[in-house]
Amino acid sequence: MAQTATSKQVGSATLTLGDKTATLPLLGGTMGPPVADIRKIQGDLGIFTFDPSFGATASCESSITYIDGDEGILLYRGYPIEQLAEHSTFLEVAYLLLYGELPNEEKLKSFTSGVTLHTMLHEQIRRFWDGFRRDAHPMAMLCSVVGAMSAFYPDSIDINDPRQREISAYRMIAKIPTITAWAHKYNVGQPFMYPRNDLSYSENFLYMFHAVPPQTYVPNPILTRAMDRIFILHADHEQNASTSTVRLAGSTGANPFACIAAGIASLWGPAHGGANEAVLKMLAEIGHKDNIPAFIAQVKDKNSHVKLMGFGHRVYKNFDPRAKIMQKTCYEVLGELGIKNDPMLDLAIELEKIALEDPYFVERKLYPNVDFYSGIILKAMGFPTTMFTPIFALARTVGWISQWMEMIEDPQQRIGRPRQIYTGAVTRDYVPVDKRS
Ligand code: ACO
Repeated sequence: MAQTATSKQVGSATLTLGDKTATLPLLGGTMGPPVADIRKIQGDLGIFTFDPSFGATASCESSITYIDGDEGILLYRGYPIEQLAEHSTFLEVAYLLLYGELPNEEKLKSFTSGVTLHTMLHEQIRRFWDGFRRDAHPMAMLCSVVGAMSAFYPDSIDINDPRQREISAYRMIAKIPTITAWAHKYNVGQPFMYPRNDLSYSENFLYMFHAVPPQTYVPNPILTRAMDRIFILHADHEQNASTSTVRLAGSTGANPFACIAAGIASLWGPAHGGANEAVLKMLAEIGHKDNIPAFIAQVKDKNSHVKLMGFGHRVYKNFDPRAKIMQKTCYEVLGELGIKNDPMLDLAIELEKIALEDPYFVERKLYPNVDFYSGIILKAMGFPTTMFTPIFALARTVGWISQWMEMIEDPQQRIGRPRQIYTGAVTRDYVPVDKRS
């Protein structure tokens, strides 16, 4: 799909161990700091490197998304997130992520109709829902149904065929709103609404989610725009946990539906995509502004294991640019819905103010991330908290697929296989059971 520019050697570093020296090429991309290439370190020095949470490790070359955590910069294919959120649409951004360039009118039209053609699910997939408990978490349903798509669409799982890869991408981008909306309809016991291809991507999702057969559904343009913006802001985010999961699963040659299901599973955790749901739970638990000081004290107490959800980020150490856009969108949505004094929002604003002044958060460079405001917006738009992470997954699907495509097309790609520091028992002999103490 998109052409990937490869990195260039911009220098070298040396690492000495006893009487052996290894030369580590320093690789430079188009932006960002140089990266030491340690691939030959084991052969040259007989050692591995230790970086258990990959905080200092570039796992691949990628030309999709760029983040500068200190400056609060996020670019998709070079375009600042602020400009895309202001001027673009989700499907245009999806094209950009997949193909590397913004489409001209003709290409956008053809991409939109290509994706829209795939919005329906194989009718037998419907039967999956009969097997779920009525109160099943929608992320559990998303994970299983997306994984099961490989059984329903076997004509697009040959990863070596570029056309099949492209079809699988279109299928997932088109069907994930249907799956997400149906997961909700199943939870609340309403009839599944079939997709409407006369609506835009975001309108159709809102329609399938909110509409019921006896009533006419009229999409609200401000809420549709907010939905589209939420999708754009969540579409991709470099090599985060779920994207790395997709790449690792994909590195084995697993089919794309299975890889995206793995990504959904990884996103579910509260430290990642599950944080938007956790923010609302936290606000509900705090309940009132007066309880904020006691809550903050709890957060600062390491033994409590309580975190200020929606705060902190592995990469952003100044501000999360998505959070700023999200905050603005939040006010637009609440204004449109006529919500003047939302106690949840008031609590969030007060919490944010206190946290931004508190030395604990200031010293650790902990700022609100994208999830701090997204939950408040989604709640105001009528989404139950359990749907927050599925909506994130819906939006991120295009990012995961773009990253998976890039990986498959990368000539350097090999199976992902980290090593370890072994800390278990040293070699010992088997003792028969009657001889063991
Ligand atoms: N509340 C309280 N303390 C925090 C928080 C938080 N939200 N986040 C980090 N810290 C503290 C850590 O305890 C640590 O303190 P220490 O130095 O005294 O030990 C310090 O700040 C550094 O944090 P790390 O945990 O090393 O940061 P890491 O990069 O590993 O974690 C993460 C990032 C997972 C996002 C973390 O900040 C967190 O759990 N935040 C809350 C969950 C959340 O909002 N996640 C959404 C992330 S964005 C996304 O996925 C879309």
